[in-house]
This record gives sequence, structure tokens and C-alpha cells, in this order.
Amino acid sequence: MADFEQLAEQIQMSGSDTTPHLTAYPASLVLIGTGRSAFAFRLNDSSKVMKVFFPAFRHIAAEEAEIYKMLENNHFFPTLHEAGDGYLVIDYIPGHTLYDCLREGIRITDHHIADIDNALTHAAAEGLNPSDIHLRNILITPGGDIRLIDPARFRQQKHCTQWEDLHRAYKRFYKKKLFPKKIPGFLLELIAYLYKRRKSITIQAPNKAIH
Ligand SMILES: Nc1ncnc2c1ncn2[C@@H]1O[C@H](COP(=O)(O)OP(=O)(O)OP(=O)(O)O)[C@@H](O)[C@H]1O
Ligand SMILES: [Mg+2]
Repeated sequence: MADFEQLAEQIQMSGSDTTPHLTAYPASLVLIGTGRSAFAFRLNDSSKVMKVFFPAFRHIAAEEAEIYKMLENNHFFPTLHEAGDGYLVIDYIPGHTLYDCLREGIRITDHHIADIDNALTHAAAEGLNPSDIHLRNILITPGGDIRLIDPARFRQQKHCTQWEDLHRAYKRFYKKKLFPKKIPGFLLELIAYLYKRRKSITIQAPNKAIH
């Protein structure tokens, strides 16, 4: 739809192509999130989100759109409404990411974890390889339902253990009675940093030459 294309064209970024600053965007959009590759805007008074990729990652829009099409029968993922040059329009998902849940002390339950497993099993049955399943790509709606976003890396070959690791951490730490259910943002960032560091060392260890 030309309307979406016009909106996307009015979004201005400056600086680095990989980590740009957002300099201007239409008043009909509300910035709801910033990832490593895109800005996500909610369209005013609507239940749609426009995801606009940073200049260096514009090509991901087409790949993510293809994957959303493969997931159209998987109700755990938002519906794709439009894909254009460097942007996507998908359902807005109300609620909180798992990251927000941990920061704000919103309880994550066995039921949520089982639903995430279910969503990923369905995606695998659709021929995909669920990857990049991290705390900011999983949402819990006000009704307690699970929704996943950002499936751009679901066609990669490499095995991604992020969800296995999160699942294990849920069982081993979060479920323990005395484990805090509300964790400050800086601590979550530190844990994520240490996790990434440890992963990259583990991956490089066997032959020390993976680039
Ligand atoms: N459809 C949506 N409904 C609600 N919030 C959303 C939606 N899409 C994105 N967001 C919010 O915007 C953030 C960034 O979006 P998204 O994960 O798609 O960007 P990304 O750059 O691909 O992320 P990543 O860093 O995981 O690669 C999300 O973590 C989430 O908080
Ligand atoms: Mg994301």
C-alpha cells in the first residue's frame, strides 16, 4: 500500500549505517522499540507496527517477510501486512517482552515456557530453524498469551542454542523460590554480555580459527 511506503520514506536516520540515530519520523508513528537492526513504530490508533531497518540491514526486510509468510499458520507469530523496500508492517502485540517482565517483576510461568516450546516446535515443523530467540523477541500479552517476533534468522543453517540456554536458566535459577523475580536492567545487560562472551569463547575453542 502506497500509504505505508510514504510513511517509511519520511523516517530519517543519520550517522552510522549499522547504528544510526533516528532524526525524524511522522507524527502518526510512535517509536516502541529499537533492535540491533531496526526501529519499530506503532501506527497511531491502529494495531499495526512498521519495522524500518537501519541502512546496513535493509535487505533483511525481504528475508523476514518471506519467513513471516512461511509462519502464517503459526498463531504465535504476528501476521505480515506488507513488506516494502527496507520495511515491514506486522501486527502490533500488546504486552511485555520477557526482558521487560524480568525488569518489572512480571511473573513468567511454566505455561509461558511450554507455549514458547510449542511455538518453536511448530516453526521447526514448517521447515524453519528457530534462531535468535532472546528475551526481547518474546512477548507476553495482557491475556497471558505468548507471541514471538523477529524470525529473520530462522532460515540460517547454524544451530542456535539461545532458547535451550534460556529454558535451562528458567528451570535452574528463575524457578527457585529464592531467586529474585525482579532484576535491574543493568544486571540483565551484564548477564547478556557475559553470556555472549562465554558463547563466543566456546564456539572458538575447538579449532581457534572460526571467523
Ligand atoms: N509487532 C510488535 N509488537 C510489539 N512490539 C514490537 C513489535 N515489533 C517490535 N517490537 C518491539 O521493538 C523491539 C525491536 O524490534 P525487533 O526485535 O523486530 O528489531 P530487531 O532489530 O530485528 O531486533 P534484534 O536486536 O533482536 O535483532 C522489540 O524487542 C520489541 O520490544
Ligand atoms: Mg529483536
